[in-house]
Amino acid sequence: MKDLFGNALLDYQNGKYTEDIITSTNISDEDDLPLPYLFRGFKDMPKLEQKALKLAKGTVLDVGCGAGSHSLYLQKKGFHVDAIDISKGAIEVAKQRGVLNAEVKNILEETNSFDTILLLMNGTGIFQELAQVSKYLTHLKSLLKPNGQILIDSSDIQYMYEDEDGGVWMDMNASYYGELDYFLSYKGEKEDPMKWLYLDFNTLQTACETVGLKCELVLEGDHFDYLARLIAV
Ligand SMILES: C[S@@+](CC[C@H](N)C(=O)[O-])C[C@H]1O[C@@H](n2cnc3c(N)ncnc32)[C@H](O)[C@@H]1O
Repeated sequence: MKDLFGNALLDYQNGKYTEDIITSTNISDEDDLPLPYLFRGFKDMPKLEQKALKLAKGTVLDVGCGAGSHSLYLQKKGFHVDAIDISKGAIEVAKQRGVLNAEVKNILEETNSFDTILLLMNGTGIFQELAQVSKYLTHLKSLLKPNGQILIDSSDIQYMYEDEDGGVWMDMNASYYGELDYFLSYKGEKEDPMKWLYLDFNTLQTACETVGLKCELVLEGDHFDYLARLIAV
């Protein structure tokens, strides 16, 4: 990983903002990911994220914290927050912004336990592909304190396969439709391709059942997106 995402966050943090990240996927064209969005305050967060922050309790783990926007909000409210990300640049920025416990760490290497685990901005993306969902969910479950909760958002992206007449062109023999190849570039450089997973609510719920998690729908967003709360059963 070249960490272009982290480089972009560092540029923005250090007043060197000249252009946005460009993303695309195997099923969609190029799109800008505006850097200021990654530094959003509570007011500019989608309502699903605001709801997740309102539901936070106890000690919190912010998984894939990016620039640390959610961690900062909760820390200011008095929560103990650990923020982790595999991007060195992101963690450097989160620290510069004041996140006290920010560490470069893959979620699969986390061993502490928490009352609330946050995975926000398509939190299921980190699972990469359907075949890995049980592994990640089992690990996340193992990090929960008694009565702990996992708050995670995602989208049902079936709409991305619809043409203008409402017809769906999905290949039913292909793998799960939410598994995407994700491409990112910044300042003319290309990041190594990544896998990024969008999970519809029913598929997430079924996966949760298989690992002993109860999955509740907390809130639906405006565009096929939702926030789920997972608790151990
Ligand atoms: C879409 S960004 C979201 C950033 C932040 N949560 C936000 O809402 O602004 C996803 C983040 O997850 C991080 N990430 C990806 N896989 C990870 C893993 N296995 N463990 C920890 N972080 C991961 C990426 O480096 C990236 O910063």
